Amino acid sequence: MAVRQAAGPVTRRGTRMVRVRAIAAVRRSVGRWRARGERIAFVPTMGAIHAGHLSLVRRARATAERVVASLFVNPLQFGPGEDFRSYPRPRRRDRERLAAAGVDLLWEPAVTDLYPPGHCTRVRVVGLSDVLEGASRPGHFEGVATVVTALLHVVSPDVLWLGQKDAQQARLIERMVVDLRLAVRVRRAPTVREADGLALSSRNAYLSADERRQAVALSRGLKAASRLLHAGERSAVRLRAAIRRTWRAYPKVREDYVAVVDASTLAPLARVRGRALVAVAARVGPARLIDNFEWGPR
Ligand code: PAF
Repeated sequence: MAVRQAAGPVTRRGTRMVRVRAIAAVRRSVGRWRARGERIAFVPTMGAIHAGHLSLVRRARATAERVVASLFVNPLQFGPGEDFRSYPRPRRRDRERLAAAGVDLLWEPAVTDLYPPGHCTRVRVVGLSDVLEGASRPGHFEGVATVVTALLHVVSPDVLWLGQKDAQQARLIERMVVDLRLAVRVRRAPTVREADGLALSSRNAYLSADERRQAVALSRGLKAASRLLHAGERSAVRLRAAIRRTWRAYPKVREDYVAVVDASTLAPLARVRGRALVAVAARVGPARLIDNFEWGPR
C-alpha cells in the first residue's frame, strides 16, 4: 500500500502534526509510540472542525501522551438526499486547527482505504440504532458503527473521545465496544455551546442569519425542561410539552422529535427515574439540528 506522509502544521507543543492517508502509516506511528509505553487517545471527526472538536482534542491530550485524529466524511452514514456532497470540507483550516490543538497524527483516509472494492461488511447495534436519530435517518448508525469499528481497528487507541452532543451515537458506540470486547475506553466530553446556548455543530454553517436566531430554540426548550426537572417535575409528557411551548416562539423551527428516554437503553420513559436523556431534533431552514441533556444519577 502506498504511504503518503506529510509534515502538517505545527502543533501546540511545537512539533509538527503528521498527516497520513495510508493505514500502514497510522499503524507504524502508533506502534512506535506504543513501544515507548505511550498511550494513544483518538478523536474521530468528519472535519468542519469547530470548538467542540477542539475541546475533544484538549481532553484527549490530558488522557494520553499521543493524540490521533481522523478526518473522513463517511459516505455510509449519509442517507439518500442527505448532505454528503455539500458537507463542509474546509481541509486546510481543519488541519491548522487540529494541529494547534495538539493532534500528533491526523489520518485522512480516502473512501477506498476504508471501503475497498467489494466491501460488504456492516456493523449494526440492534435496537439502539433504530430510535430517535435512527428512526429519522435509516441506516445512519449502521454507517457510524461500521466506520468507527474500522477506525478503531486501525488506530487501536487506549481512549476514544466522543461528544455528548451526539448522545445516541456515543451510547451506541459505548455498547458496541462492550459487546465486541474492544479494548478501548470510551469517554464523552460535554457539549460546547455558543454564548446564546446553541450547540456547536458543523451543520450550523447552513443557517442564514435569521435561521441562526431561531436555532437557539433547541437549547432554550431543553433549558425549560431542565428547569422543570430541578423543580421536581418527573412526567415526560409535561417535560416534552414545556419544550414544545418554548418552540412556539420560533416559527421556523420544525420538530422532528422531542424525547425523554432512558440514557442507557434509549427506551421511552413515562416518568424520569434513573439517568434520563432529554433529546430533541428539529429542522431550521436547510439544517437538521440536534441537542440534548442528561439528568439523574449515572
Ligand atoms: O460524529 C462524527 O463526526 C461521526 O459520526 C464520526 C464519529 C466521526 C463517524 O464518522
